[in-house]
Amino acid sequence: MGLYYVTTPIYYVNAEPHAGSAYTTVYADALARYHRLIGDRTFFLTGTDEHGQNILKVANEKGLNPQEFVDQMAQKFKDAWRFMRISNDDFIRTTEPRHEKVVQRVIEIMYEKGDIYLGTYQGWYCPKCETYYGENELENGNCPIHKTPVEFVSEESYFFKWSKYQDPLLELYRTNPDFVVPATRLNEIKSFVERGLKDISVSRTSVPWGIPVPFDTKHTVYVWYDALINYISALGYTDSGEKMEFWPGVHLIGKDILRHHAALWPAMLMSLELPVPKRVVAHGWWLVSGQKMSKSVGNIFSPQDLVSHIENSVGLAEDIAVDALRYFMLAAGPQRDDADLSLEALWGTYNADLANDYGNLLHRVLGFMKKKGIDTAPKVTGQRYSRVAAVVQEQLQKYHAAYEKEDVQGALSSALDLIKFLNDFQDKEKPWTLSGDDLAEFLYSELEAYRVATTMLSPAMPSAAQRVAATLQAQLSLTFGEVSGFKPDLTQPPLFPRFKEDKDKQGDKGGANNEQTKESASPEVEEGKPVVDYDTFSKLDLRIGLVEAAERVPKSDKLIKLSVDLGSLGKRTIVAGIGLKYEPEDLVGKRIVVVANLQPRKLMGVLSHGMLLAATGEDGLPNLLSVDGQPEPGTKIK
Ligand code: MSP
Repeated sequence: MGLYYVTTPIYYVNAEPHAGSAYTTVYADALARYHRLIGDRTFFLTGTDEHGQNILKVANEKGLNPQEFVDQMAQKFKDAWRFMRISNDDFIRTTEPRHEKVVQRVIEIMYEKGDIYLGTYQGWYCPKCETYYGENELENGNCPIHKTPVEFVSEESYFFKWSKYQDPLLELYRTNPDFVVPATRLNEIKSFVERGLKDISVSRTSVPWGIPVPFDTKHTVYVWYDALINYISALGYTDSGEKMEFWPGVHLIGKDILRHHAALWPAMLMSLELPVPKRVVAHGWWLVSGQKMSKSVGNIFSPQDLVSHIENSVGLAEDIAVDALRYFMLAAGPQRDDADLSLEALWGTYNADLANDYGNLLHRVLGFMKKKGIDTAPKVTGQRYSRVAAVVQEQLQKYHAAYEKEDVQGALSSALDLIKFLNDFQDKEKPWTLSGDDLAEFLYSELEAYRVATTMLSPAMPSAAQRVAATLQAQLSLTFGEVSGFKPDLTQPPLFPRFKEDKDKQGDKGGANNEQTKESASPEVEEGKPVVDYDTFSKLDLRIGLVEAAERVPKSDKLIKLSVDLGSLGKRTIVAGIGLKYEPEDLVGKRIVVVANLQPRKLMGVLSHGMLLAATGEDGLPNLLSVDGQPEPGTKIK
């Protein structure tokens, strides 16, 4: 029995949890569940990063005091992770006293040691976004966001002697080539450190929403220095220290925060004379239509929306739909390289792996038993049993080796390879030609291997695995041959019904099992237009937009480019084909109806970021939908 400590990044609370943060969290959850399965004492930590200027800014924009704001947001993360069946052992928040105390102690220890010193921070400051920029980040000397002039500021700041740890870090990468995986990211961090480390500013006098530096309280601790310490503050470092036996741990992160975890954090640990992390696993990003998911592009998928889409499309219970999403994320996600997050990708993986291979196998075996009136499969061993046992052992070996390297994708492949083998085995053995002990041996071997494969999948799909265990009426384990015989429940429908495109288009809440009721309840609709349920409708983000400016798109009679105020969603450029009916000046000051979350599209070279609603009359000309009263720009339409 070993010890295993796994962490996710602590997420900024200025945005809600989404499929990106859910990915890292589900990935860490699968690792934690695997280690518990093999009997390791496991500690799984996630949490929220709650200090800093950006969080203060969003709280101010919302008119909330920062503590109130971070409390609300941290709860959203806790709720999202409970919904995703995340089994974290602790949830750390950087505004908790147990964390703040440790950060203050850590900066003191380093200060006493001489690794923290007072210096002068110099940089370019944009007062509009309250952010410092490096010379090379400026655009023609202006703020890259606001395109307005920046100020050169020089302020007193405490620095951490990062440069002192340059050689020890290079030595670490040289002697421990698995310190960062995948190897491409180790190379990336190695060349970053080889280019030379500069000491890093770790305090600010201008950011009030932070932890005060204990020996100079006009300073607050820089948000990244504060955040990284969560990985040991949660273990009680410098305090009771009761969980420090779990250190060092494995950090799961996205590739965007590699430098902080693979170069800054180990240097801080060296300064504290603590062991460096066991490993930093840096995954890629989910992309939506080739772009990173982000709030400003409006291409965010929330885990809850994806799960309700799955529930509605194939009629799964919530816990099984959560598992289907978890499986898709882990099997087809950005473990190494960036991956495409789309419904096509989701259903492709679902149908191939879960419906056709995994779900269908059990259905085939149990369906056969039911048809033949067989209700038990006692343990009978012979050549068939040995053949299946050998394949199970081979796949189990690959499975453990993959999890040893935090390679969940590899581990899932070995489980699926076993399932594929069992499907082929059934085709080859032709059970309808067997009888007596031969048939019993076949059925036992199939069901027993299926039980082991289900256990192999259980870290990814914990609820589905329990459902299968209940159907098999057997406990889950990784030991083939352990069960003395099966008396399965033959009444269960397929666990993962196949997704069919047309069912989805009907917005069929009851899914595969409820077609008839739906058909009779369908209202009159235009041909080619499916009936949609409220969940599908509610995915549209319809808003009141106030037209602030309008101009014709050059060389087009039809297109007008509008600048539209959408309140909290900001200003948008929308290109609309209304130029044959309206003059730009007629439009300014009008309130219109905007679809705010439509995929951006280029029209005559101009990117349109939304669509306005209009009805085309018999003359073929558009009539804009108008709005009663004067609702605020950005008001939601339901
Ligand atoms: N607060 C810091 C981390 C401090 S850790 C001591 C931070 N937070 S964050 O909210 O921006 O979350 C970053 C992490 O969320 C990424 O490293 C990654 O793990 C995950 N993801 C955010 N967007 C993502 C995608 N589009 N795709 C995959 N993961 C992404 O940085």
